Amino acid sequence: MQGQTSRALVLERFGTLPRLVERPVPVREPGRTLVRVRAAQVAHLDLNVVDGKFGILPDLPSVPGTSACGVVLASDTHAEGSLVRINGKGLGLRRDGGWAEHAVVPDAAALPVPEGTDPALACSYFSPAGTAWLAVHSVAGVRPGERVLVTGASGAVGALAVQVAARAGAEVIGVVGRPAKLSHVPAPAKPVLAAELSPDAVGGTVDAIVDTVGGPVLRDALALVRPRGRAALVGYTAGREFSVDLADFLLADVALLPVNLMSRGKEVAADAERMLAELASGELTLPIERHGIEGLGQAVDRLRSGEAVGRVVLDLD
Ligand SMILES: NC(=O)c1ccc[n+]([C@@H]2O[C@H](COP(=O)([O-])OP(=O)(O)OC[C@H]3O[C@@H](n4cnc5c(N)ncnc54)[C@H](OP(=O)(O)O)[C@@H]3O)[C@@H](O)[C@H]2O)c1
Repeated sequence: MQGQTSRALVLERFGTLPRLVERPVPVREPGRTLVRVRAAQVAHLDLNVVDGKFGILPDLPSVPGTSACGVVLASDTHAEGSLVRINGKGLGLRRDGGWAEHAVVPDAAALPVPEGTDPALACSYFSPAGTAWLAVHSVAGVRPGERVLVTGASGAVGALAVQVAARAGAEVIGVVGRPAKLSHVPAPAKPVLAAELSPDAVGGTVDAIVDTVGGPVLRDALALVRPRGRAALVGYTAGREFSVDLADFLLADVALLPVNLMSRGKEVAADAERMLAELASGELTLPIERHGIEGLGQAVDRLRSGEAVGRVVLDLD
């Protein structure tokens, strides 16, 4: 690798886009694995880091990218040539992440992936699959026959939450923000526009919601939950803030439950692993939108605007 160069997206100032630079291939130390990255996810968490608006931030300059997938070039732990996904251990948060052709990561941040898996799927399934499972089963505790409303139902987490809830035996309503996304709500959910949320539109009350959107959509969805129902709160793409009138909250008697994949990832790792096999075989679906490393700006715009459908991935092949 000595003398070879490698392209990397380097964040120099929070609130700006990382710059594509040519730099030497990073040097591997003992306990670290050198990976030739093949695909790297662009997720809301990465954008929060780029904006300097997340609780854990790197010293700059730094390479963002909390999840990627690639081939092992050198490691004390992993076989050379094997496919691994890289995430966790502060990757893309406290230390350089996967938005680069080469990444050096702690051995424990590289996790084997079945050979032949699409690298774009391998780098992007864990967060939405694990989060959807966590929200539906561990947090909302969805039971057969219940009615569940999922917001952001064409997004990565939302689309999988729809499928996981339906498999749990629930009747699912999938809420989207714009008409163009109605057709992207996975079957068998009933698609509904956020602007049209009402008891009539969803056929009465629901037992639980899985909210990936936040803001006013969460407020409107909460009004549809029956007393003693549950709301699993996953994300805040439409707004970080949400105010609660305590009198109304107590009267409504709906549990507001946080979903935190970072602290509970291990609990759902085996379930997410199983879902990878089902995603690869097509039994479950997760749309993936691919952009080249030079196309980061467009990838970010599509994610920020909410126009992207499913996962957004940088293809570094
Ligand atoms: N709590 C956790 O542990 C955890 C884990 C993973 C992800 N998350 C969070 O969950 C949320 C969803 O993640 P995701 O990967 O499913 O995202 P995604 O694929 O981009 O989906 C988000 C959806 O939000 C909707 N949306 C509404 N207003 C929006 C706006 N102003 N900008 C962009 N999108 C908007 C969009 O659907 P419409 O166009 O239909 O409105 C979009 O499909 C994110 O906030 C993410 O950070 C949390």
